Amino acid sequence: MTSRTLRVGRLVAPAAALASFALLAPTAPATAAPKPEPQDTRPVSQLAEPLVFGHRGASGYRPEHTLAAYELAIRMGADYIEPDLVPTKDGVLVARHENEIGGTTDVAAHPEFASRRTTKTIDGVAVTGWFTEDFTLAELKTLRAKERLPLVRPGNTRYDGRFEVPTFAEVLQLVKTWEKKLRRDIGVAPETKHPTYFDSIGLSLEEPLLRTLKAAGKDKKNSDVVIQSFEVTNLKELDDDTDVPLVQLTGATGGPFDLKGEGTTYAQIVSAEGLQAVRRYADWVGPEKSQVLPRNAAGATSTPSSLVRDAHRTGLRVVVYTVRDENQFLPTDYRRGTDPNAKGDVLGEATAYLDAGVDGIFGDFPDSIVDARDAWVQR
Ligand code: G3P
Ligand code: CA
Repeated sequence: MTSRTLRVGRLVAPAAALASFALLAPTAPATAAPKPEPQDTRPVSQLAEPLVFGHRGASGYRPEHTLAAYELAIRMGADYIEPDLVPTKDGVLVARHENEIGGTTDVAAHPEFASRRTTKTIDGVAVTGWFTEDFTLAELKTLRAKERLPLVRPGNTRYDGRFEVPTFAEVLQLVKTWEKKLRRDIGVAPETKHPTYFDSIGLSLEEPLLRTLKAAGKDKKNSDVVIQSFEVTNLKELDDDTDVPLVQLTGATGGPFDLKGEGTTYAQIVSAEGLQAVRRYADWVGPEKSQVLPRNAAGATSTPSSLVRDAHRTGLRVVVYTVRDENQFLPTDYRRGTDPNAKGDVLGEATAYLDAGVDGIFGDFPDSIVDARDAWVQR
């Protein structure tokens, strides 16, 4: 499949999408396909316009990393959906932001798993809770997802207990289903979480990741898949093993855990010289958004850094994370009112990143980013 719907003038309005999902049961079949839109013949990865990445699905509206969250992101027009990946005890990749699942599932309410609560050191940090690598897939499937930020997004708690933890294979199947329904390509941006840690316990992520992509027929350069990681070593290894484009993620502080011994920092990686090195194994760089629009002393955005220009000069594309609608996540110049949980001027913030030249934006509220992107393209 190579065609996709035109982005500008999209017919799937956010309100309609929300309404159609309000009563969706965890295993309910997808709703009827919308009327097909005019077709654009380019694969999504070859589009010149900036791309919208549904961060952990439409995680602003549904508990993150659930099929419901991914489905809504797709319906809202996201070009890519983003599953973060960790393994189960039996080596199956599942979609969770971290291997500790106390914050995003109801595991604490399962007395049969009480004895699995433990403390581990993950990337040098002591973490207490329940860990995916201590559960078989069958056990994990008895749990249900819950909203990570119930105080920020209380409306999403109505979905607590309704959705399973999906496997990566199930996410890819969902994408295929919706590609057929919408008659457009839908990208997938899996992220390997804690690759060095999982190597150390014999649950390497990369092999099942490539196996699962291959089984779904999405392991090619033009498969509209990009693989992300905050670490470097695994991306270099993946560069040898796959043609799928790679994304080097960078943080606003610190450095990749696998290169801690060498003292490598993300600041070095996003320097002009560092980006040239990244280009030897990756196709994209994925900076934390303040690395593109640094904040001033008042917490407002200031003059763009040279990151986008330097990345483009090397041939790297740039996707920033994470744009979220609520005031507390916005730079101070885009906040509206004093309630940290109220919606601010996210369209303004997203537009500022587009003006800075980024090629993609991760957003918790994909409809907001689609709106900003479409208006920016038309302008
Ligand atoms: O992968 C982009 C962005 O998701 C990185 O941050 O912590 O949300 O995975 P995180
Ligand atoms: Ca991620």
